Amino acid sequence: MEKYVINGGKKLSGEVAISGAKNAAVAIIPATILADSPCVIENVPNISDVSMIIRILYEMGASIRPINKSTIEIDTRRIHTPIVPYEMAKHMRASYYLLGSLLGRFHTAKVSMPGGCDFGVRPIDQHLKGFKALGADYSIEHGMIDVHADSLIGSQVYFDVVSVGATINVMLAAVKAQGLTIIENAAKEPHIVDLANFLNSMGADIMGAGTDVIKIRGVEHLNGISYSIIPDQIEAGTYMAAAVATRGDVLIKNIIPKHLEAISAKLEKIGAQIEEFDDSLRVSVPGELVKTSVKTMPHPGFPTDMQPQITAVLTLAKGTSIVTEGVWDNRFRYVDELRRMGADISVDGKVAVVEGREKLTGAPVKATDLRAGAALVIAALAAEGTTEIEDIYHIERGYEEIVNKLRGLGADIKKITIPGGVVRKAL
Ligand code: EPU
Repeated sequence: MEKYVINGGKKLSGEVAISGAKNAAVAIIPATILADSPCVIENVPNISDVSMIIRILYEMGASIRPINKSTIEIDTRRIHTPIVPYEMAKHMRASYYLLGSLLGRFHTAKVSMPGGCDFGVRPIDQHLKGFKALGADYSIEHGMIDVHADSLIGSQVYFDVVSVGATINVMLAAVKAQGLTIIENAAKEPHIVDLANFLNSMGADIMGAGTDVIKIRGVEHLNGISYSIIPDQIEAGTYMAAAVATRGDVLIKNIIPKHLEAISAKLEKIGAQIEEFDDSLRVSVPGELVKTSVKTMPHPGFPTDMQPQITAVLTLAKGTSIVTEGVWDNRFRYVDELRRMGADISVDGKVAVVEGREKLTGAPVKATDLRAGAALVIAALAAEGTTEIEDIYHIERGYEEIVNKLRGLGADIKKITIPGGVVRKAL
């Protein structure tokens, strides 16, 4: 078994460089299935969710050639199957992007129901509604989603809920469909714009990504290109939160400050000072941390993927803070673990009430999912004493070299393997 051992109480200081965005990479890599020639993808984060999607493409027949640490060439021309079995897809949510990509290229796809973080029901009805509007039939049997279309015809798709996954999947399926597709009530996250930029550079005709109406005029061919993935908004936000919780002073490099506006605004309310530069920002804490209210919302609202991390900061902010989860049904499972460290949090449905405490104390805890794990790392860095975090494979799904990056900021963190324990590799 592997765990992180963190001796807390050290202010983070120095510089940290942010890697490419996980949620853009796991969409752009499957999108290479639509290309007629090889693609070179740069700024690919070295995290287990990305290794997994690359491995799935490889197993399906794609050639993958690493060019350097964060650049790969992907040639999907020899993909020989539109089927992605359970064993491959079960570990990650984003395996469902193979549905849209394979449907777009082969007009048929059979992909196992997706895995990923467990925060309540994670339906895919909006993805299927979108495929159906484009003329595809689907069935779900024995845990496999089977989609098929004789031909894909552009259409109008109105989403009943704002869904990142459904917006991306319909873009992937529609980009080579005949005629015009209009997605209404589309998600607006930075990784949606990044995918649209990638597809447009390949020759697609997509307008409006980043607004709630996206228009896609189908094209016959998409060419392989070189493309660099945007920086990870949530990784950046996590280091910002860690800097604030430890009352540190950190320069966050290789970012797009605009993508971090909602996070910066909340951290400023809590007491952080944030200076923005072209592609970096500096976070410091001149005074005390104070309460605030946070409600997560689709972009440009406060991101749900930062909810556990900001809650960890608020456990140390003076006064009573209210955190409302506006996207997922059940994203407060990590609260029990923070309580083991002395946090005072009560949860009622989608609302958490956080009573700020003077200090947290180190304890043995478990990561229950990716961002929950990040919240525990933040709490541990700020806490008095030693915290041991188990089930770190969740954290390594989404944070490249977190131990080295934090050590570079002065944190006392190490990863240890318990002799005789089972090593569960991050998948
Ligand atoms: N929803 C439906 N029907 C659908 C799809 C979604 O009702 O067909 C609902 C969901 O139940 C949820 C809401 O719509 O209440 C939003 O879900 P969305 O589809 O936007 O989430 P997702 O695409 O499955 C992505 C990220 C998540 C992030 C959410 C919200 C990826 C691979 N995952 O998930 O990221 O929480 O958007 O921003 O992009 C993470 O990185 O830690 C992570 C979980």
